[in-house]
Amino acid sequence: MARSVSLAPEPANYGDNPKNIIANRNNSALPASLLKWYDGEQRELPWRAKKGEIPNPYHVWLSEIMLQQTVVKTVIPYFNKFITLWPELTDLANASTDEIRTAWAGLGYYSRAANLHKCAIIIRDEYEGKLPIFEEELITLPGIGPYTAAAIAAIAFDETATPVDGNIERVVARQFAIETPLPKAKTELKQLASTLTPPRRAGDYAQALMDLGARICTPKNPSCLLCPISKSCAGYHQGIAPLLPKRSAKKPKPTRYGAAFFVLREDAKILLRQRKEGGLLGGMTEIPGTDWNEKEAVAENALKSPPVNGEWWQLPGIVKHTFTHFHLELTVFRIIAPKKAELTLFADADRCKWVHRDELKSQALPSIMRKVIDHALKTLN
Ligand code: ADE
Repeated sequence: MARSVSLAPEPANYGDNPKNIIANRNNSALPASLLKWYDGEQRELPWRAKKGEIPNPYHVWLSEIMLQQTVVKTVIPYFNKFITLWPELTDLANASTDEIRTAWAGLGYYSRAANLHKCAIIIRDEYEGKLPIFEEELITLPGIGPYTAAAIAAIAFDETATPVDGNIERVVARQFAIETPLPKAKTELKQLASTLTPPRRAGDYAQALMDLGARICTPKNPSCLLCPISKSCAGYHQGIAPLLPKRSAKKPKPTRYGAAFFVLREDAKILLRQRKEGGLLGGMTEIPGTDWNEKEAVAENALKSPPVNGEWWQLPGIVKHTFTHFHLELTVFRIIAPKKAELTLFADADRCKWVHRDELKSQALPSIMRKVIDHALKTLN
């Protein structure tokens, strides 16, 4: 259903929510106040329909997948690259997984790229190239979880759905002065958020909450004096908004260690390998290396299993990277190999290829591997 931008939200009457009664704040005017603010202050984003325009569901879906775990500023150039390379959803479906992985390289959480492709193929083949409208159907597709299904239904199709991400959790926790720490508070915050969603302009409303969370209701130093919904904000009135949401102490991340083998051949080609499908960085391209584990001595043992035999040099320094669940520290070994260098059993030759150092841009190299390559090439210049 096309959105009707000129429709004013219906007057809401959500003020009898028990949480609100405790906080003694009536937020029935919240959706209208927020939408009015959004009409004047909304961010211009490349996937977002401008006032009076109908949203492009392909753009909404693509952006929402990219925005899972990734901030808007990082996503913008990737989104623009994807819609330039693949202007329509069916173009993306017709691309190869490797082309998509290469374009995705650097954005992280690489299973998203594989799921994006699977999802595009299903939409091309089973939905005549058009995204389904309803949350219940969207959620059955690869890469689309409850948050993303609600975001697409609301933003692309103006369905009354309530996406709740970290930004929206923060706004709601403050609005209702919820002091239960995250993640325990998640279900409650979701339920409270859904009591506020207006029956009209749900997509604009969701995006208004996102913009409010990004610009006004920020994690630190929120700008409550500029906030269009501070009137009903129990956290603001209790003077505790900046302290919410509370969080249970996070477990510290462990550190894993490993070694990477940088093989530069005399013809300026570098040894690369495709990682096994599935798992961390599944299917992406890597500099061959050891497994990563929590034993620091791994680098010392690394030269027992090199991908080519010869005189290896351990480069000074360490390459560090942080993944969601662990820190990684890689020691890099380098060798200049003859053009006829043979791979050892440890190389897993079936997954290896030689790529000229000037052709690295066209490879699906994740950020950690780009760091390894930069580190190794620095020592050559
Ligand atoms: N974060 C997740 N989805 C978003 C969107 N559509 N606009 C801005 N920020 C977002």
